[in-house]
Amino acid sequence: MDDSRRKLYEGKAKIVWEAGPGEAGPGAEAARTYIVEYKDDATAFDGKKRGRIGGKGRVNNLVSALLFDLLEREGVPTHFVRTLGDREMLVRRVKIIPVEVVVRNVAAGSLAKRLGLEEGAPLARTVLEHYYKSDELGDPLINRYHLRTLDLAADPEIDRMESLALRINDILGGALEECGLRLIDFKLEFGRTDTGEVILADEISPDTCRFWDTETNEKLDKDRFRRDLGDVEEAYEEVLRRVTAGAEKWRVRRRGARASGGERPAHARGEWPAHARVFVTLKSTVLDPQGAAVENALRTLGYDEVKSVRVGKFITLELTHLSPERVDEMCRRLLANPVIEDYRFEVVPATAPPAGSPPPGAPTGTGGKGQ
Ligand code: TMP
Repeated sequence: MDDSRRKLYEGKAKIVWEAGPGEAGPGAEAARTYIVEYKDDATAFDGKKRGRIGGKGRVNNLVSALLFDLLEREGVPTHFVRTLGDREMLVRRVKIIPVEVVVRNVAAGSLAKRLGLEEGAPLARTVLEHYYKSDELGDPLINRYHLRTLDLAADPEIDRMESLALRINDILGGALEECGLRLIDFKLEFGRTDTGEVILADEISPDTCRFWDTETNEKLDKDRFRRDLGDVEEAYEEVLRRVTAGAEKWRVRRRGARASGGERPAHARGEWPAHARVFVTLKSTVLDPQGAAVENALRTLGYDEVKSVRVGKFITLELTHLSPERVDEMCRRLLANPVIEDYRFEVVPATAPPAGSPPPGAPTGTGGKGQ
């Protein structure tokens, strides 16, 4: 570790450092990144139970790195840049939104207790919850109204955190199943970049997820520490072993998919030239003086049928290839201001695809409203 580093924050399980000279690559990268160090310290029940899990820092760093990498490749933006060793990773600078997003597939922990469900009972539907990140208050469960009242996040940011969390559940649930791990539930934290983009931050590890063995339902996560079940270190190491083996399978599959990509039509590989049309309007809750002026003028001209007018922006893009996800990202990062504006877009192929192939415009037509 570099002595010239500045410690920015120390939490219960991690330390965030500003990178020392030369640690984070070129100057511009250093200015946009932090270093996260994962500790072996363990706490539970709002810090009332304290201990140490030997090797936990290493396991949590490496498991998080592998899972962040998988998510990035599946199109989920995360703060992960690269590992800097066994216990440290370089991450993009973000301001953490003080909301914990918990996704649950099976009743366990506080949900089982709160709703009187048996631990292990499958949930008919995925459950998503928000908790207010506040040690003094003991991280209380909150809903969207509380989130708005406390001004913790704007509505589109909440929508985005929820939709990313559900997508992450789909991606991780399937990938971990292949490693013999059942994803029972997990907690995510998101952050805002300096351009206002909401991306996944914090960690994804046996500290923040419940992993049960797919065959035996043995607990392989922090519940072993919380509930004094023994073999805590072994469980953490086992998760790292399984996720590492899984990551190798995921990589091989990705290579295979790329290699066979040549057999698929160009548009299916997203290589078809395309046009995008982006519509940006002020949110209905935001005052629109230009719209009000036009409305007045139309009425003055005798168009009494006009009930209201909202003025927005219409943007056209010519694209080298068809990629709705990238257009969505452009909207969020630049074309619209998600705090005060809604957006909607259409991506259509610039020329018709070859006869017999499905129209690529159909599945990629619209999206992104109010993300
Ligand atoms: P819970 O059942 O105790 O509410 O926990 C739900 C999930 O959130 C579980 O996978 C563990 C994770 N979690 C954290 O990451 N940090 C916490 O402080 C708590 C209470 C839970």
